[in-house]
Amino acid sequence: MTSKLLCAAFILAALTLSITFSLQPDQQKVLLVSFDGFRWDYLYRVPTPHFHYVMKYGVHVKQVTNIFITKTYPNHYTLVTGLFAENHGIVANDMFDPILNKSFSLDTMNIYDSEFWEEATPIWITNQKAGHTSGAAMWPGTDVKIHESFPTHYMLYNESVSFEERVAKIIEWFTSKEPINLGLLYWEDPDDMGHHLGPDSPLMGPVISDIDNKLGYLIQMLKKANLWNTLNLIITSDHGMTQCSEERVIELDQYLDKEHYLLIDQSPVAAILPKEGKFDEVYEALAHAHPNMTVYKKEEIPERWHYKYNTRVQPIIAVADEGWYILQNKSEGLMLGNHGYDNALAEMHPIFLAHGPAFRKNFTKAAMNATDLYPLLCHLLGIPALPHNGSLSSVQDLLRPTAPRTVTHTQSPPPHHDTYCPVKYQQVFT
Ligand SMILES: *[C@@H]1O[C@H](CO)[C@@H](O)[C@H](O)[C@H]1NC(C)=O
Ligand SMILES: *[C@@H]1O[C@H](CO)[C@@H](O)[C@H](O)[C@H]1NC(C)=O
Ligand SMILES: *[C@@H]1O[C@H](CO)[C@@H](O)[C@H](O)[C@H]1NC(C)=O
Ligand SMILES: *[C@@H]1O[C@H](CO)[C@@H](O)[C@H](O)[C@H]1NC(C)=O
Ligand SMILES: *[C@@H]1O[C@H](CO)[C@@H](O)[C@H](O)[C@H]1NC(C)=O
Ligand SMILES: *[C@@H]1O[C@H](CO)[C@@H](O)[C@H](O)[C@H]1NC(C)=O
Ligand SMILES: *[C@@H]1O[C@H](CO)[C@@H](O)[C@H](O)[C@H]1NC(C)=O
Ligand SMILES: [Zn+2]
Repeated sequence: MTSKLLCAAFILAALTLSITFSLQPDQQKVLLVSFDGFRWDYLYRVPTPHFHYVMKYGVHVKQVTNIFITKTYPNHYTLVTGLFAENHGIVANDMFDPILNKSFSLDTMNIYDSEFWEEATPIWITNQKAGHTSGAAMWPGTDVKIHESFPTHYMLYNESVSFEERVAKIIEWFTSKEPINLGLLYWEDPDDMGHHLGPDSPLMGPVISDIDNKLGYLIQMLKKANLWNTLNLIITSDHGMTQCSEERVIELDQYLDKEHYLLIDQSPVAAILPKEGKFDEVYEALAHAHPNMTVYKKEEIPERWHYKYNTRVQPIIAVADEGWYILQNKSEGLMLGNHGYDNALAEMHPIFLAHGPAFRKNFTKAAMNATDLYPLLCHLLGIPALPHNGSLSSVQDLLRPTAPRTVTHTQSPPPHHDTYCPVKYQQVFT
């Protein structure tokens, strides 16, 4: 064979292999990582070389519209279901369900009550039903029994377990004899420090640098395990953070009689359950109480929030303006940073970056909805997506163009066929 022919043979082989690759979705591995409370613009506050490394060799979406309310549990459940809060049922970190006659709160163990989670089916269950295995390192909800299932592998939530230990588990599961195809990894910061210091504090710089170092550690471990080029890594978050102040506090006790209602959730979206016969009194007292708090009867909640059609949304909600805080009274503690506000506010928006064989390189996209991640994940994993509120076509441009599904031998090679030489092939696909 002449070298030309030889090269042509390699091109054909490479094409065949790349086509095989795109047609075998079960070869697609996905690791979804959430750094809680990582606001979209933290990427530019201090040098974040590891985040920028992922952006340069992968994709970056500048503005991600998360869901209302911009809290941790509601948004983490959206990322793995593609549903708005009113549809997946985790409408807040603190909830009361009048039908179940049960409360849900992060302060107590009742977040482990399956019934709260079962209005939706998270992706790890669908993945397992399709015959695959999943592994979760403390992603919210992954240590809860949902529809009689847990992830194939999971860690019980324990905030004292280090990032390195969580990464070690993820790597172990991806490299075991029966490797997982879906990994979920969660880390509590920069949210914890953002609440404590306030996002405007100069001390947030070192906190962001520390997260960048953690990402660097993850990349290093993935490379060491030969996963870096075969696995699709998606790095995102649940929400951003905004600066609060003692000067911007709204005290409910100034306007309402404590005996007339139950405060189910507090700031910045107060969820108010008036006692029997007290609805009008509570609503009238609150409606025009403070210029920086908008009060809605449940049926008046704006459609764009998709936050109405669920029994866990209380009869009255009061939403604070950005940076304002709602408290029962000032004797309660105030955090210098908070989130939960209107999801149209840029400061509430998280990050989105991805790297791997399925993704384009050095590609920046202006905007996406957080609900679009779910159909994207299902596409990558080759599993059926359950009904959801996202759109795969809205984020398809993040993906490398794949070969058409029906391939004939007469098809011409792609334009840059010279790059399809054996050595390059090795580099790209191993
Ligand atoms: C709801 O549960 C509480 C105890 O948590 C109980 O006192 C109350 O009677 C229950 N209400 C109904 C309607 O079952
Ligand atoms: C949580 O993790 C820490 C650190 O690994 C450990 O010392 C502690 O015993 C764990 N707590 C529980 C309840 O397992
Ligand atoms: C608070 O209310 C005042 C008066 O209506 C308004 O001028 C200001 O913009 C509000 N603050 C925020 C953060 O929306
Ligand atoms: C402030 O509210 C808390 C309940 O959140 C209550 O226990 C406390 O007594 C209140 N303090 C005052 C001074 O009313
Ligand atoms: C990435 O893309 C930008 C423009 O979109 C370009 O200026 C830059 O050189 C590219 N970097 C690499 C490493 O390809
Ligand atoms: C987000 O979803 C809304 C409603 O479906 C849609 O109008 C909007 O275009 C989407 N945004 C992006 C960036 O795709
Ligand atoms: C969101 O998706 C659910 C499930 O398909 C659907 O029932 C609901 O109507 C959707 N919401 C909107 C606003 O389209
Ligand atoms: Zn959070």
